[in-house]
Amino acid sequence: MELLNLTTSNSVRPSRAEPFIKWAGGKQALLAQILPLFPSDFECYYEPFVGGGSVFFALNHSRAFVNDENGWLIDTYQALRDNFKAVARELDKLPNTKEDFLRVREVDPSSLSVEKRAASFIFLNKTCFRGLFRVNKKGQFNVPYGEYQRRYYSIENLAAVSKALKQVKFSTGDFEDCLVDVTRNDFVYFDPPYYKVGGFSDFNRYTAGQFREPQHLRLASLCNELDDKGVRWAVSNSDTPFIREIFKGYRLETIHARREINLNSQNRDIKELLVLNY
Ligand SMILES: C[S@@+](CC[C@H](N)C(=O)[O-])C[C@H]1O[C@@H](n2cnc3c(N)ncnc32)[C@H](O)[C@@H]1O
Repeated sequence: MELLNLTTSNSVRPSRAEPFIKWAGGKQALLAQILPLFPSDFECYYEPFVGGGSVFFALNHSRAFVNDENGWLIDTYQALRDNFKAVARELDKLPNTKEDFLRVREVDPSSLSVEKRAASFIFLNKTCFRGLFRVNKKGQFNVPYGEYQRRYYSIENLAAVSKALKQVKFSTGDFEDCLVDVTRNDFVYFDPPYYKVGGFSDFNRYTAGQFREPQHLRLASLCNELDDKGVRWAVSNSDTPFIREIFKGYRLETIHARREINLNSQNRDIKELLVLNY
């Protein structure tokens, strides 16, 4: 692992990468509980619901395959891998005002160059309300402006992100489709949208699709198939009777999280699960 070093203005030397966006369900605060439970030795690391990548970046494994159903997010990873400086230059052109936010939000990302598309994704994430990603039924981003004065990026971190992504394989799509080549020497970490706790559900965040009981059941049966093949995996989810039931028979570890439960930012201790088949 290299240490961060900003040597001259045009040579940025990367340190360990951190997530470059805020992402609902991000695991940054839980890394110290989750990572020690991962196997110590495996060949390829798979993360089918990579999101903001907090676990992926912290693990810093030499071979990795990451996937997310959110194509705009995966395009942003690829643009940063290929040319983070061009993405940073595009971000520098975007002022943080409500007018600019609404203007950028209106533009169809598929009409933009790869660098501009990545820049608008990061810009919207940093300036929208609470860094949420929510789209309407047509897949159009519809989170309101957040009125924050935060930096869009750190160039040292983008350099580190770009470097960390160099050997990574990407795909956009459903979690089931990215595991075709997985072997018993590999390890898979699944961090899906969580099953609802009380009335609260993650289902309409992140993508236009939904993640409800049928999708959780589909994930559990995929895990059973992988288990039969001897592939090791870990799954994060809420500590609920439904999740305990569909993963019955596997090792369950409790993870302690603190969640914001309302707009006044009151926090509450919440128990989550890490289900393991090893
Ligand atoms: C809980 S988040 C992952 C958070 C991530 N571990 C982090 O630390 O930022 C769940 C992710 O699953 C993605 N997703 C939702 N449905 C999916 C599906 N059917 N297949 C693959 N990814 C999906 C969402 O776009 C979202 O990024």
